[in-house]
Amino acid sequence: MIDVEASRAYRAGIAMARLQAAVQPIMSICIQGAFIVVLAVGGIRVAAGELRLGDLIAFILYLFLLVMPIGSAMSAFVQIQSGLAALDRIQEIARLAPERTDEDRPSPATREASNREAAPGTAALRDTSTGPSRATRAIVPPAGSIELRDVTFRYAPDAEDGGATAARSPDGTAAPVPQDRPDPAEPPGDGRPVLDGVSFTVPAGSRTALVGPSGAGKSTVLALLERFYEPTDGSITYDGTALSEIPRSELRSRIGLVEQEAPVLSGTLADNLRLAAPDATDVQLRRVLSAVGLDALGDRTADGLDLDLGEDGIRLSGGQRQRLAWARVILADRPVLLMDEPTSAVDSRTEQLLQQTLGEASRDRTVVVVAHRLSTVADFDQIVVLDQGRVTAVGTHEELLEESDLYRDMASRQRLVSA
Ligand SMILES: Nc1ncnc2c1ncn2[C@@H]1O[C@H](COP(=O)(O)OP(=O)(O)O)[C@@H](O)[C@H]1O
Ligand SMILES: [Mg+2]
Repeated sequence: MIDVEASRAYRAGIAMARLQAAVQPIMSICIQGAFIVVLAVGGIRVAAGELRLGDLIAFILYLFLLVMPIGSAMSAFVQIQSGLAALDRIQEIARLAPERTDEDRPSPATREASNREAAPGTAALRDTSTGPSRATRAIVPPAGSIELRDVTFRYAPDAEDGGATAARSPDGTAAPVPQDRPDPAEPPGDGRPVLDGVSFTVPAGSRTALVGPSGAGKSTVLALLERFYEPTDGSITYDGTALSEIPRSELRSRIGLVEQEAPVLSGTLADNLRLAAPDATDVQLRRVLSAVGLDALGDRTADGLDLDLGEDGIRLSGGQRQRLAWARVILADRPVLLMDEPTSAVDSRTEQLLQQTLGEASRDRTVVVVAHRLSTVADFDQIVVLDQGRVTAVGTHEELLEESDLYRDMASRQRLVSA
């Protein structure tokens, strides 16, 4: 699929280069040719006495004045063409089905929830709708508890669009879908769900790790917690409120996320950090950079925080991107932290530094970390072992070494215990 698209883009690029290479010389030849023709015909007529020399010179000067705008018009035409192509691409993105905006029309359940005598946590959720979490953190218990009950989830048959078509409201109405896509309400053909009856509780202010072989569904759990997708079955609650009743914008203003593929935008180091905290001062930015071991990045060059990271952060290594994501999430200062294999690309010394940073950051916060290295989560409050979409064990490191074959197997493979 990607192969086909890539080779199509490659061929289009070649055709484009060919055209561009041809246009320039053809234009020059036309212009020079026209000049020679005018000069030749005019010269003959001047020689024959039909035309005065002054008139010919005037004509040629006019010709030069005319050629310039014609040339400009030609290159404007080329630019307009590539502009139109870019516009096409933008419209393609604009046509993607948006996430279902339940927040626009609160369901009866949401209204009921907001009228109800609310638990402290629920009050905190509502308060954040008016401002950043920081303002409310001082007065309400900051952390959030999360509970998954019997969560089952399948990706829609073609969920490559980031899940917009997979989103379904509780009453079963489908999100707006482009015409050429299959109905997302239809059950997918392949049998096993990605998550199958997953249940566990993350107490407020605790640290929970998700471990398991790759493909077990760990990233999918985080995606559901962020409400990128809705569970096919079962429920997720946040501080006792069903996730489906919390507007996405509100929910996400409570959650800091470090994704498995840390995205970096083109722009400067400071730009990328201020995405998370627009009002942060330079001093704050530097402090958080040093907390994640990225201080050298800004200091090594004269640019400092204005260091240009290049298109898509091309000038950063994988580990640097990951640490930038850490810096962002720490700056954002959210009560819940979700991290997906957040130290997978850094060396062990940096990992130690990040461990320390996480230790400080997880005070008063609810933390859920997908861990690839068990040593980084051995001291967590609980570890959830996922395998093929099911929770096979929950407990502390010591408990799991006793009870879970899979966990003991992973631990011995990582040389945490002797086999
Ligand atoms: N966007 C998606 N669309 C369809 N299937 C997906 C998508 N993302 C992940 N999967 C599938 O779901 C399963 C679990 O994936 P994931 O949650 O990423 O596992 P983990 O993070 O534990 O490695 C895998 O079989 C994967 O192929
Ligand atoms: Mg993953």
